[in-house]
Amino acid sequence: MDPERGTIIQTTAEHVQKLLSGEGSGHDWWHIWRVWQTAKRIGAAEHADMPVVELAALLHDIGDHKFHNGDETMGAKLSRAWLQKLLVPEETIRHVIQVIEEVSFKGAGTSSAVSTLEAQVVQDADRLDAIGAIGIARAFAYGGYKGRELYNPAIPPVMHASFEEYKKNTAPTLNHFYEKLFLLKARMHTAAAKQMAEKRHSHMQEFVQQFLSEWEGN
Ligand code: ADP
Ligand code: NI
Repeated sequence: MDPERGTIIQTTAEHVQKLLSGEGSGHDWWHIWRVWQTAKRIGAAEHADMPVVELAALLHDIGDHKFHNGDETMGAKLSRAWLQKLLVPEETIRHVIQVIEEVSFKGAGTSSAVSTLEAQVVQDADRLDAIGAIGIARAFAYGGYKGRELYNPAIPPVMHASFEEYKKNTAPTLNHFYEKLFLLKARMHTAAAKQMAEKRHSHMQEFVQQFLSEWEGN
């Protein structure tokens, strides 16, 4: 990409900030900001194509925002239109879109294959933001937004075999740790992310252990 890439990234950040500010279900601007920072760190360690990593990190959730249970191609469409408006080269646009399409988690039993280093970096950064202290906060924020119970001992976790099944899930928030959050550490691609995931993972394990112990009156 050309020398204006700093401006393109900055303009994109401002655009996404405007779109997602104040969103309360877990895809707010600060989620994007954290994924962007983490992706920059992992991407640099992996010698990835940084403009692609940064643009994809910034745009990776814009399709989810207004179209929660609808068209899964919306993120790609909105991102393409935005990048074309900024005159980003077609080759870069294609790579950014490919990353955006590959990053999301689709259920415990579904594959999470990604085809480029840049997709690995952004997916790792997105997943790191779903675990650890922030992951715990986001899970309960999401559960509250959806009106879910915190926990219900009568409803066991389910390992969803398809994205359709995973999307239909209405289980208590604690189940989400078993259905998704505890699985993410093993699904990291890059060495830097694997290392960061260790601490966040054990923090969540401790949290769930303490939660279940307090549940029993301890
Ligand atoms: P992303 O697009 O960032 O990968 P998702 O759209 O899957 O994430 O979810 C956004 C946030 O809400 C994440 O932190 C995720 O763990 C949490 N979340 C998603 N589904 C559930 C659920 N069923 N229960 C609790 N938290 C959830
Ligand atoms: Ni995300």
